Amino acid sequence: MDAKKRVNLFYRYILMIASVFILIGFVILPLTADEEQFFVLVSLIIGFIILLVLIYHMFENYVRPIRASINVTNELVKGNYNARTYVKPYGEAQQLSNAINVLARNLQEMTIQEKMQGSQWKTVLNNMESGLMLIDERGYVHLINRKFIGMFGKKSVDYIGYLYYDVLEDTTIHKVVQETFLYEEKMNGNIVKTIKKEKHYIEVVGAPVINDVKDLKGAVLVFHDITDLKRVEEMRKDFVANVSHELKTPITSIRGFAETLLDDESPDEEVRKQFLTIILKESTRLQSLVHDLLELSKIEKEEMKLNTKLINVDEWLKNSLTLIEQQTQEKSLQFIQEIQPNIHLHGDPDRLQQVLLNLMYNAINYTGSKGTVFLRIKELNNKIEIQVEDTGIGIPKEATQRIFERFYRVDRARSRNTGGTGLGLAIVKHIVEAHQGNISVTSEEGKGSCFTVKIPKKW
Ligand SMILES: Nc1ncnc2c1ncn2[C@@H]1O[C@H](COP(=O)(O)OP(=O)(O)OP(=O)(O)O)[C@@H](O)[C@H]1O
Ligand SMILES: [Mg+2]
Repeated sequence: MDAKKRVNLFYRYILMIASVFILIGFVILPLTADEEQFFVLVSLIIGFIILLVLIYHMFENYVRPIRASINVTNELVKGNYNARTYVKPYGEAQQLSNAINVLARNLQEMTIQEKMQGSQWKTVLNNMESGLMLIDERGYVHLINRKFIGMFGKKSVDYIGYLYYDVLEDTTIHKVVQETFLYEEKMNGNIVKTIKKEKHYIEVVGAPVINDVKDLKGAVLVFHDITDLKRVEEMRKDFVANVSHELKTPITSIRGFAETLLDDESPDEEVRKQFLTIILKESTRLQSLVHDLLELSKIEKEEMKLNTKLINVDEWLKNSLTLIEQQTQEKSLQFIQEIQPNIHLHGDPDRLQQVLLNLMYNAINYTGSKGTVFLRIKELNNKIEIQVEDTGIGIPKEATQRIFERFYRVDRARSRNTGGTGLGLAIVKHIVEAHQGNISVTSEEGKGSCFTVKIPKKW
């Protein structure tokens, strides 16, 4: 009720009382003697004024505060917890107003806390690394988080309020939910999902939601992306398989030729020499394989333990260039150097020499005679860029990313002939990355390849 109405009501009461007094006046005055009429009139007026004061007092101290309290209570019912009532400093209504204000304040605090808790929960749920879905005992979806949407797509309105088996197609998930409900225990399963065109392995864990009186109230489903773990596991398996295979080949041939030599009582000198040469070649290969493997594991283990120094590129190159020139001459290759003079960088000189030699030997090995190999070194945007280019056989497009994997070789037979183990570029990549740099390759089959290494001058 607004103030105007309240005032109107007050005047209406006064009018009513005034009418009553006037009526009494009209009835009593004719019945009184003339000399007493003045006293009766004065008594009536005094009575009216006293009643007026009394009514005003009642109105101010009871009716108004109660009305105000009713208004505030209505606001509280509507959810406006900011509403407060005016508290008179005295009178009976003070207690009521006070109590209502305390109630409003408590409600306000409770909602603020509830809101804070709600937003904390939301933050936790939406920043979880795993997807989450809450379903009730009838199978209706009540809650999902942001990661879940990231994994399964669509929007939250497409899931909430629906039955889980209508919105999730995978039967493994259905099974996990059913078993969770059935055994009232934590259950799990694995699914494969294509997310942004990539295959992802997801572990689904279902946990029952049980209330205080041990009633099953629903289930929480958590979806962990275990793709990285799977990848590591696959890599480990591949690595073991590859190492065994690489070791088996030379060992079989060494053993075969050694047995033949032993069996043959008086071998032809030439055959004997040929067999021994093969045995020597294979054992050298075995040795370099073991050496590379040890090297790789050492780099992986001591990734951060680089022996960093300030390197003067001109001086650092001297040793390596002699080795490279010797090799290019042997294969009658043209060797072109474009080295920017007087440049420096921070790094491990021995490890970086390993990078350079590996790239240069590849360029030499995979280029036919009369070809050309280039070595370019320059400074660019606070980085040192080392480029090794050749006019050799090139690398097929689909293999350009894989050549950095351990044991990957485009042409196994050919690479084996050159004594390659397929570990060279894996080692190179590790060293470059340990220097906070990166390596890239461009290549065209039959025309040649170009490897570019970029290393920050200081890191
Ligand atoms: N410059 C290049 N031109 C053509 N193919 C190349 C070149 N560099 C590397 N490759 C291809 O990439 C593969 C992997 O190279 P990587 O250096 O890792 O191994 P590798 O040369 O076979 O053996 P090693 O471990 O002894 O170096 C090679 O087998 C080859 O097929
Ligand atoms: Mg190599």
